[in-house]
Amino acid sequence: MTCPVFPTDFRDTLDRLFLWRRDVRHFRPDPVAEATLDGLLATACLAPSVGLSEPWRFMRVDRPDRRAAVRADFARCNAEALAARTGDDSGRYAALKLAGLDQAPHHVAVFCDADPRQGRGLGRMTMPETTVWSAVMAIHTFWLAATAAGLGVGWVSILDPDRIARILDADPDWTFLAYLCVGYPQEHADTPELERQGWERRDPHRRGWIIR
Ligand SMILES: Cc1cc2nc3c(=O)[nH]c(=O)nc-3n(C[C@H](O)[C@H](O)[C@H](O)COP(=O)(O)O)c2cc1C
Repeated sequence: MTCPVFPTDFRDTLDRLFLWRRDVRHFRPDPVAEATLDGLLATACLAPSVGLSEPWRFMRVDRPDRRAAVRADFARCNAEALAARTGDDSGRYAALKLAGLDQAPHHVAVFCDADPRQGRGLGRMTMPETTVWSAVMAIHTFWLAATAAGLGVGWVSILDPDRIARILDADPDWTFLAYLCVGYPQEHADTPELERQGWERRDPHRRGWIIR
């Protein structure tokens, strides 16, 4: 098999994709074509996984009653998180994800089968958490592919994992990892929203590596 050559201008474009991938909190209401969503989830499944176990489990959440229950769980967890913080301005950001949950036309819950038969246990004897890492790699692949398709993804983690698994009637062997809001973003930016809002910024001194 001949590996394709990825020319310099493609690599420059890919760098721009990494730069412009955003966690999106405000969505347009128009739906994404089913074929596009299917394609993106198929692309996500090209991610690497320990022992080729492919432990990610993507679940589209379409039922309004389930979405409402997830939203209520977020509201409860968010309120608890805010109550635990005093003296900062986190309240300013409290509603951001609520907006995404209300506006995004598509919701995708991501689980990990923590002990999948596929892969026959290879590579995870000493670090069983590698299945979760594998599933997170699939999420990142989905995120990048969605960005390339002009879509936005918003990762919601202020949720109670056990309650979400019950709401979504997940397989008992699955661990809840992420709730993704998906749709067309209201705006594009090359900088994280939390940086634009003055909450946090990328560390300008952090390099990708150290030498020992
Ligand atoms: C594991 C994980 C969990 C996250 N959970 C939340 C969340 O609950 N709420 C939220 O607003 N953003 C969440 N985010 C998004 C981050 O805030 C965002 O990635 C970060 O601010 C950098 O922005 P960017 O993704 O646009 O570069 C999460 C991101 C990751 C990787």
